[in-house]
Amino acid sequence: MPLLSPKNSVENMPGYAPGAMKLPNATKIHRLSFNESRIGPSPKALAAAMDVMNNCYRYPLPGNPEINAAIANRYSVDPNKIFCGSGSEEILRLLACGYADAGDDIVYTEHGMVIYPIAARCVGANTVVASEKNLFVDVDSLLNSVTDKTRIVYVANPGNPTGTYISNSEMTRLRDGLSADVLLVIDSAYAEFVDAGDYSPGWELVDSGKDNVIMTRTMSKMYGLAGLRIGWAYASEPIIEVLNKVRPGFNVNSAAIAAGIAAIEDLEHEEKTKAYNDKLKPWFEAQLIDLGLELAPSVCNFSLIRFSGGADQCQRVNDRLRENGLSVKPCGGSNLPDCMRITIGPEESLELLVKVLQSLKKQEII
Ligand SMILES: Cc1ncc(COP(=O)(O)O)c(C=O)c1O
Repeated sequence: MPLLSPKNSVENMPGYAPGAMKLPNATKIHRLSFNESRIGPSPKALAAAMDVMNNCYRYPLPGNPEINAAIANRYSVDPNKIFCGSGSEEILRLLACGYADAGDDIVYTEHGMVIYPIAARCVGANTVVASEKNLFVDVDSLLNSVTDKTRIVYVANPGNPTGTYISNSEMTRLRDGLSADVLLVIDSAYAEFVDAGDYSPGWELVDSGKDNVIMTRTMSKMYGLAGLRIGWAYASEPIIEVLNKVRPGFNVNSAAIAAGIAAIEDLEHEEKTKAYNDKLKPWFEAQLIDLGLELAPSVCNFSLIRFSGGADQCQRVNDRLRENGLSVKPCGGSNLPDCMRITIGPEESLELLVKVLQSLKKQEII
């Protein structure tokens, strides 16, 4: 009798590989591998989530209208153009469900988020990888990768794990080079951290009238709600309609909705989280540069180190960090085996990490 097996596109698919949550022999683990918020959630978001628990026997309102309205209000946009998901990951996957068939092409970049190929393979679509240029999204390479089989182009801006961004004019050039039947997904998970004047998370392109652009956002990073799973998107109404057709009936839980509403309204807490990153990241990166390490120009709440000694050196350093209870993200899964990504986490964790690297420098391991 034939054995049960998954469909071909899933059979050999590497699943999502998170950073280490446990380290052998470590009494304390310093979690610097998930880009979680050092500051955590707004106390108002926590209180709102607790409050709603009394009613947790009830289903939330389908389509999440209350939080859609709160997000629309914060940004003065039409609530009919907002969609919420159980993390932005759910939205990224729903887009593949709604727009790509088996045999279609889904394009993303060489160091793009690992969610994109998983979303593609789950619907049996072909994965097409465009090269990047020195850790930056390369619009020409993306456009050259698009064919008449392409249905979706996913671009993280800024990227993860690179942390680099492309300007709004480059993103516009990408959109202008795509035909109207290709969906451009601008994954702006780290948008709240970016100060650059030529950056945009994607509002203008969604509003430009071509109806083939969606911007996705997360509340896992700046808002410290990773464990509740909430993300959102801004797109034209026809795209929102498709998302509403393919979503699970009640796709965001009540606690996440309540916390998300409070979080998006708590600008003071957002400023505090941003200020922490703006203070700690330059200090941390200066220490790494003093040690002679090469860094990507990250504009996010994480840094990316590239080891001149390649994947072996990266692995050796990671082993030593782990021995000291430090969990960072080695980036082999993103085609960067010589790189590791480090979250701008607690100050004491980053200080310890710098100390370990200083001792590795003395031992000529780096
Ligand atoms: C670029 C990017 N997109 C999407 C996500 C998914 O975020 P979430 O599902 O937590 O909203 C992440 C999470 O790390 C990310 O880095």
